[in-house]
Amino acid sequence: MSVDSVFRTRSLGVAAVGLPDQYADGKAAKVWQLYIGDTQSRTAEYKSWVVRLLREQGVRSVLDVACGTGVDSIMLVEEGFQMVSVDASDKMLKYALKSRWDRRKETAFDQWVIEEANWLTLSEDIQKPGQGFDAVICLGNSFAHLPDFKGDQSDQKLALTNIASMVRPGGILIIDHRNYDYILETGLAPPGKNIYYKSDLTQDISTSVLWVNNKPHMITLDYTIQIPDENPDENNPEVSKFRLSYYPHRLDSFKSLLSEAFHGKVEHSVYGDFSAYKPGQDKAPCYFIHVCKKTS
Ligand SMILES: C[S@@+](CC[C@H](N)C(=O)[O-])C[C@H]1O[C@@H](n2cnc3c(N)ncnc32)[C@H](O)[C@@H]1O
Repeated sequence: MSVDSVFRTRSLGVAAVGLPDQYADGKAAKVWQLYIGDTQSRTAEYKSWVVRLLREQGVRSVLDVACGTGVDSIMLVEEGFQMVSVDASDKMLKYALKSRWDRRKETAFDQWVIEEANWLTLSEDIQKPGQGFDAVICLGNSFAHLPDFKGDQSDQKLALTNIASMVRPGGILIIDHRNYDYILETGLAPPGKNIYYKSDLTQDISTSVLWVNNKPHMITLDYTIQIPDENPDENNPEVSKFRLSYYPHRLDSFKSLLSEAFHGKVEHSVYGDFSAYKPGQDKAPCYFIHVCKKTS
């Protein structure tokens, strides 16, 4: 008789070691709102672009597959969209849940659905309404959080296929990533203020790139952020340190991954920092935003 048949410490078929939640220690989650800065000024950068696109496409229901603390979802709940917001990290979700609770007397917030879900098991974790959502969003450089531990991008392919399967025929996916082409070529983030992070807090970010078989495999950012203190002690400022790692998606290969996820049935457009983008243009964008319309 095997030990497993006597003491089962996990469900059958569930890996003993799951996908690591980079936010599980709560450190990044705790300072996330401070790091992204004033949420109204952050979302003002792209709110009109996103909302106009969603309205032009006749979107009503939206799935946010990386809601984190809820910044984009709240923006869209306030704009009257029917939101379902999911994330794999309960440490991040607790801030979204708190916002929903605080504003529960507003009908739109009372109806806001928030669930824990992982892109690798999305169809098991959430209920797809009919043929799918009118729109799915994955913003804030979230998709790049998924590591490629197997070295063949099979997890990325599975996750994108699952995410694309949530879009109804005729619906859209909006998904972004940092401009890793520029970061890998220059070792630096493109100049100009990061559109997503509006914080004025003093911060230091050190970047390391891990190369495997002559290919960039992982970019690790170590963040040091000074936290405002009500009783500041200049000799001993409160500092938060956290680390996040990203898979550096190059623009062309990410386009191919998206096309594969939609089985080629997609109209695809790329924007740079929520504006028109032309390859080779003078100003390198910080972010690429992909809009994929599922054609059937
Ligand atoms: C950079 S945060 C962005 C959150 C939010 N969209 C924003 O811009 O503030 C990335 C989020 O992706 C989530 N995430 C990473 N891997 C995931 C996965 N496999 N499934 C679901 N969520 C995941 C993380 O838990 C985290 O909350």
